[in-house]
Amino acid sequence: MMEWPDLKNPRPRSEPKPYRPVVWPEAQFVPLPEGMIPDTPPFAVVVEARRTRYSFAPLLDDQLGALMQLTCRVRAALAGPLAFAQSHRPAPSAGAIHPVHVVVHRPGDAALCRYDPFEHGLSKLDTSLKPSALRTAMYEVIDAPAGTLLLFVAEPGLTASKYEDAASLVWRDAGVLLGTFSMAAEALSLNFSPMGVTGEPWASQLIPGASLVGVGAAFVGART
Ligand SMILES: Cc1cc2nc3c(=O)[nH]c(=O)nc-3n(C[C@H](O)[C@H](O)[C@H](O)COP(=O)(O)O)c2cc1C
Repeated sequence: MMEWPDLKNPRPRSEPKPYRPVVWPEAQFVPLPEGMIPDTPPFAVVVEARRTRYSFAPLLDDQLGALMQLTCRVRAALAGPLAFAQSHRPAPSAGAIHPVHVVVHRPGDAALCRYDPFEHGLSKLDTSLKPSALRTAMYEVIDAPAGTLLLFVAEPGLTASKYEDAASLVWRDAGVLLGTFSMAAEALSLNFSPMGVTGEPWASQLIPGASLVGVGAAFVGART
């Protein structure tokens, strides 16, 4: 018998399940550059060219801003019955919920940051999780000291407030986001490499007691 965890079949709930979103312990917000999208090749050329690329030079802030704009930035917030804003962003998401947060660590930064998709900037995280510990763990997968580390951190309670048996939706959201990053990075002539690790046990240590789980990680950087 094939071993395959049964994530069950999601169904919309008849009424939203009450849920209080995680409050991130954020210290300082630094906006990312806006509107710095360079001319990109046609989509068909991007699709042809995309590869996983393993060498990284440090990203400029303009490049990180453009990457987040083409992957995560909120285009429109939607008013709905849930206790938090749904939104349209570059990647699709079950229920327009976008339960996957992106935690960013730039090489040399003392702190981890969370990308704020509504405000388009980085919020420094006040967390006891040490960036060096996280990086050391990720270097076992890909040794990328000059790469910017992206940690995909899911908040399953968001999706579960609209759907029963939401786990597979959260994983599919993480996958579609990873794919969107891989295409956007290629369009911007950046090097991008996904990692098969989930980001656990690190992601769930970001905020003690909060229901956050790692659903992936990647390195991104400028071309060398
Ligand atoms: C979910 C996922 C996990 C991956 N994990 C790793 C990884 O841990 N290490 C690695 O070197 N490449 C990883 N990759 C990259 C794949 O090895 C790569 O996509 C594959 O070899 C095909 O090459 P291409 O992306 O250049 O077309 C991963 C890709 C995906 C989509």
